[in-house]
Amino acid sequence: MKIEKQLSPPEELKQKPTDVLKVPFGTVFTDHMFSMQYSSGTWHDAKIHRYAPLSLSPAALCLHYGQGIFEGMKAYRRGERILLFRPAKNFERLNQSAHRMVMPNIDVDFALDVLMELLRVEHSWVPDVAGSSLYIRPTMIGTQAKLGVKPSDEYLFYIILSPVGPYFKEGFSPVHIYLSTEHVRAVRGGVGVAKTMGNYAASLFAGTKASEVGYSQVLWLDALERKYLEEVGTMNIFVKFDDELVTPPLSGTILAGITRDSVLTLTKDMGLKVNERQVSIDEVIEGIASGKVVEMFGCGTAAIIAPVGSLWYNDKPYTVSNGKTGKLTQHIFDELTGIQSGEREDRYGWIVEVD
Ligand code: PLP
Ligand code: COI
Repeated sequence: MKIEKQLSPPEELKQKPTDVLKVPFGTVFTDHMFSMQYSSGTWHDAKIHRYAPLSLSPAALCLHYGQGIFEGMKAYRRGERILLFRPAKNFERLNQSAHRMVMPNIDVDFALDVLMELLRVEHSWVPDVAGSSLYIRPTMIGTQAKLGVKPSDEYLFYIILSPVGPYFKEGFSPVHIYLSTEHVRAVRGGVGVAKTMGNYAASLFAGTKASEVGYSQVLWLDALERKYLEEVGTMNIFVKFDDELVTPPLSGTILAGITRDSVLTLTKDMGLKVNERQVSIDEVIEGIASGKVVEMFGCGTAAIIAPVGSLWYNDKPYTVSNGKTGKLTQHIFDELTGIQSGEREDRYGWIVEVD
């Protein structure tokens, strides 16, 4: 499919932020976006055009029944080079989310071509300050106007871009994580595995509970026994017990994070003992008391690597790693961000360059 371009004239281009590290995450958008429509069983009208509000029927199915999915990825600048980190994985995961939400697939190679073309157009928006990147948000929504509950016959797929600094206002320093014992995020057989909008809506209430005690993120326990760690609001979770690094398995209720997969590869290659296994909250709390839990961190595209400094559980705070960034956490952060920014060798072929 041909990608049509309707670019804004130079005098209508926006001012870029003077200090991207100070811009709250995801609040500034570039001049252009990509969009395409789906109807009668095919994608069509692929276009790069001015970033602008959408026109949707108030009866659009996504607005009522939440048929919407998205992805999160980043472009990094190294001088004049623009680098992407494992971008095909995001479009493959978008298709897995689409399958679960009864939405159409997109062609992964076409989506990569589109993204490359959009990044060529928006090249100057990829920031060059350390710790910054251009966040990429591919999104798909059901747009058919209909109040009956059913999968939409019509869809919109679009990609918007936002120059960002750190996801947490703390930057790369320990975050405070609130364990939700009252609410759950996803049940087995549900949609927890899909990157679908309702999962994030479902997380908001517990988020307000977390902020009441001054904590920033929610760590979810499994919905059945309320016993095993699942994931954090926007990140997968890792715990280091003595010499064993552990992360919960992909059991269908959590997102299969691309950063998680990358951390598993990096740490296995370092020769660490790494296990994907269930971790109970009792094991963590006892491990903190005994000193067996030496480090804990979350990982995700937006947050990168976030050291966990404390946990709030059953009305009590528990300090992890003396509230500091652990050695392994720091090492993984340096290695991952080094590869992503092109400063360190890409031993795994993870980097795709915009040509
Ligand atoms: N879990 C959730 C719920 C997320 O929103 C994210 C962010 O995308 C992750 C985990 C981490 O996934 P990834 O590393 O692919 O960004
Ligand atoms: C990401 O890490 O890209 C995410 O999607 C998290 C987000 C919901 C801000």
